[in-house]
Amino acid sequence: MKNKLVKRLAIVVLGVATLGASGCPQEAPQSFEKQNGFVSQKEFDEAKDAFDEIEGPQDGLGVHFNESSCAGCHGPTVKGGLTGGSGPVTELRAGHLENGQFIPAPGGTLITLQATNNATTEAAALSASENVRDRFITLSLFGDGFVECIPDEMLRRISNEQNARTNGRIKGLVRVVAISEAPGKTAVGRFGWASQHASLLSFAADAYKNEMGITSKLQPEDNTFLGQKVDDGVADPEDTGGTFGEDVEFFARFMRALSAPPRLIPADAKERKDVENGAKIFKNIGCNVCHLPDLVTAKAGAKVNGGSFTVPAALGNKRFHPYGDFLLHDIGTGPAILREGMPPETKNKIRTAALWGMGSRLANGEPLLHDGSAKTPEEAIQRHKNSAAQEADKFQKLSANDKARLLKFLRSL
Ligand code: HEC
Ligand code: HEC
Repeated sequence: MKNKLVKRLAIVVLGVATLGASGCPQEAPQSFEKQNGFVSQKEFDEAKDAFDEIEGPQDGLGVHFNESSCAGCHGPTVKGGLTGGSGPVTELRAGHLENGQFIPAPGGTLITLQATNNATTEAAALSASENVRDRFITLSLFGDGFVECIPDEMLRRISNEQNARTNGRIKGLVRVVAISEAPGKTAVGRFGWASQHASLLSFAADAYKNEMGITSKLQPEDNTFLGQKVDDGVADPEDTGGTFGEDVEFFARFMRALSAPPRLIPADAKERKDVENGAKIFKNIGCNVCHLPDLVTAKAGAKVNGGSFTVPAALGNKRFHPYGDFLLHDIGTGPAILREGMPPETKNKIRTAALWGMGSRLANGEPLLHDGSAKTPEEAIQRHKNSAAQEADKFQKLSANDKARLLKFLRSL
């Protein structure tokens, strides 16, 4: 009886948390083709060109890198649509254990797979003794402008509400991270599989350096070859102009302007009913404790990213449906490695996969889970253990019809 009451109370509180600070929130635009109105079309096209542009060694690409453009990994989700999607490209991270402690590979856990001018790649030169390895698939960027505008307090509140609703069984770990463009300032991390950034500008400079080997004013030191400095022949920072680097500012602008992934609601009335019922089952068996269906951004004019970014009208007070919480959990899927800068309590924890866009990703044949190790949603759900063991168990116990409804719902996201 007592448990039941706590549960109901917590659900009511969860409802309040998503209600935005003022007025009626508007729905965030959903599209894989059109931007959300953050900037003019001309400004958007200019930013998109930078995101799509293939860089060469003369631009500072490499020496060691993973791909020669952001769009090379973050391609379009639908044919003819905007770039910025997820994809099957995985990154390799590695290290080894010493007395049970994880030690990153020399130069850091990220191991690049390509090199300019036929230089030996990090992957080829990686010692076999760096035998703790994991893969991370490319995350979608659609809707990330809204994610950036979630107030820190809301993420903290979600974690506390999870704790209350499950009597301490589930409590997403809130990770506080530095904001590169605002030295000394921090915010609640939400981007990347380890929630390693809060700001899209910080992430852009990090990716430009670590995925492409291109330095900017925000990240002026080039990446290494397994810890050894290598001169790529172009003076650092390679991305000059603007306040932080012209390109990284374009990338952030492009990502902030991407709309949220659209739903794939079936036209057939019976199918649609199944999807609606599937959504109810998803909620009833507790999947929505971590995969939150409704969030609202901070009001226009509010400050995020440690005070360094003012929420614009196009992104402020918008309701969106990520089916995620952007917090870290141990559900028994790994990751095998502990990234540099990650405190020990984050071991085995990974950010809840945001399920928006799932139907389109499945239609493209993309694999699931952070390492791409699950081929189907059913397999991904079966792999939920530890913090999510009870919910996975409830899924297993559903009737065949209810299972099918829940899976149809997932494919409609
Ligand atoms: C080699 C492929 C590759 C390239 C090139 C690449 N990315 Fe990514 N991107 C990834 C992967 C893999 C992840 C997940 C990273 C992790 O493990 O946290 C990711 C994650 C992200 C995220 C976090 C998204 C979220 O919702 O959490 C952002 C933002 C991002 N990338 C921006 C960029 C930008 C900007 C560029 C170009 C400078 C870029 N990426 C280039 C593969 C790539
Ligand atoms: C304790 C929090 C938690 C609960 C409860 C939970 N999940 Fe998850 N879910 C996660 C995390 C964390 C991941 C990412 C794991 C990884 O990639 O290694 C994930 C991943 C997934 C994925 C794979 C998505 C992708 O893009 O790769 C699916 C599908 C999924 N969950 C569905 C469900 C369903 C259905 C339920 C209810 C039966 C559920 N989850 C309950 C935390 C949770």
